[in-house]
Amino acid sequence: MKITVVGTGYVGLVTGACLAEMGNDVLCLDVNPEKIRVLQEGGVPIHEPGLDKIIASNVAAGRLHFTTDIDQAVAFGTAQFIAVGTPPDEDGSADLQYVLEAAKNIGRRMNEYKVVIDKSTVPVGTADKVRAAIAEELSARCAVIDYSVVSNPEFLKEGSAVDDFMKPDRIVVGADDERGITLMKALYAPFQRNHDKLVLMDVRSAELTKYAANAMLATRISFMNELALLAEKLGADIELVRRGIGSDPRIGYHFLYAGCGYGGSCFPKDVKALIRSGEEAGQTLRVLQSVEEANDAQKRVLTEKICKRFGEDLKGRHFAVWGLAFKPNTDDMREATSRVLIGDLLARGATVAAYDPVAHEEAHRVFGDAQGLELIRSQTDVLRKADALIVVTEWKEFRCPDFVELKQLLRTPVVFDGRNLYEPSELRALGFEHYPIGR
Ligand code: UDX
Repeated sequence: MKITVVGTGYVGLVTGACLAEMGNDVLCLDVNPEKIRVLQEGGVPIHEPGLDKIIASNVAAGRLHFTTDIDQAVAFGTAQFIAVGTPPDEDGSADLQYVLEAAKNIGRRMNEYKVVIDKSTVPVGTADKVRAAIAEELSARCAVIDYSVVSNPEFLKEGSAVDDFMKPDRIVVGADDERGITLMKALYAPFQRNHDKLVLMDVRSAELTKYAANAMLATRISFMNELALLAEKLGADIELVRRGIGSDPRIGYHFLYAGCGYGGSCFPKDVKALIRSGEEAGQTLRVLQSVEEANDAQKRVLTEKICKRFGEDLKGRHFAVWGLAFKPNTDDMREATSRVLIGDLLARGATVAAYDPVAHEEAHRVFGDAQGLELIRSQTDVLRKADALIVVTEWKEFRCPDFVELKQLLRTPVVFDGRNLYEPSELRALGFEHYPIGR
């Protein structure tokens, strides 16, 4: 099938590369010429395991192309994926200007049947707006051409995006007409050889499904984070509580890890957008309001623990930070707890040395020349003469450090463990002061 993907961000690029991998002819469009230049020259603008390989092999096979030419992109695919950004507006609602611009571009240029597929995370009702935007452009040029608008939300996780796309748990498709349904079934047939993963529904339900999934996951995390704070006060261990409740199949083990708050491009933005959708529809989402509030507070829990140990004024103190990305296996720092934490420490007069396995360039971009912050490309060097180590991201390489060396390098053997990577009893036995979350 000939497919156009509009937008080469995380979702667009992974979608384009994986659909090409399945043998389709794919053209990816972006308005950013720099991004397209990098891709055309064989580079990949994001860090995502496995993505560079499938991009390279599909470009070499002539199945994957990149362009900034909108005319070419619209003419190319029968399927037109819209995978552009939907950043939060000032009031938290999703900003649809890029989605609607993409729709208008299609309406202005299409000369034959197209299926327009909303892949971006968009509020309920967006497909109707996309349909209307295309209709308006067609009528402006007195053209009568059939088209379908389909919702096909993406559930991929950064760090395992290629795997998630190639082996999805489910493929949610919201479509209201037969022609659209038939094309979507054909498109996803190769991804579900063993069993049927297609969950077919109406467009509005599909749009809401994406938000519901992310909001549910964020709720689980905020719930556990809040219980962790209570566990600390009551002398209980949240890790044991997690194991105790996770064994109930109705609850399950996933996404019950207490920590220093969730970040990323999806949870914070989608929780906000769903709350806003609720307000617009006259339905207050009280649970989600609390989920957001709890997470904002959780991003400051490490600072609170540090101040409790070292005092409110941190002038003259020096801290080592492990982990800048919002989660492992990505260099993405959007809404990362590290930003809040490092900002707080610097504001209180401390100096910080930070290390992340891949997010250094991104950190340079985010922090600029922040006074008092040094980004060091060595997991051990960063520890030298620090008053404490603060673990912010659960990278695998942080799990089993050489504690003897760690103790020698730190000025004082203090570890703030924002992701509960270490056993409290073991660290105590090794002579560390250990401050985990909820234990
Ligand atoms: C998420 C959804 O998982 C994905 O389905 C959707 O398409 C996009 O949003 P992603 O943003 O890549 O994916 O990150 P995810 O792996 O879900 O982690 C989000 C955050 O939650 C991270 O900061 C992580 O550290 C935190 N987290 C996760 C916890 O604090 N506790 C947990 O138990 C799990």
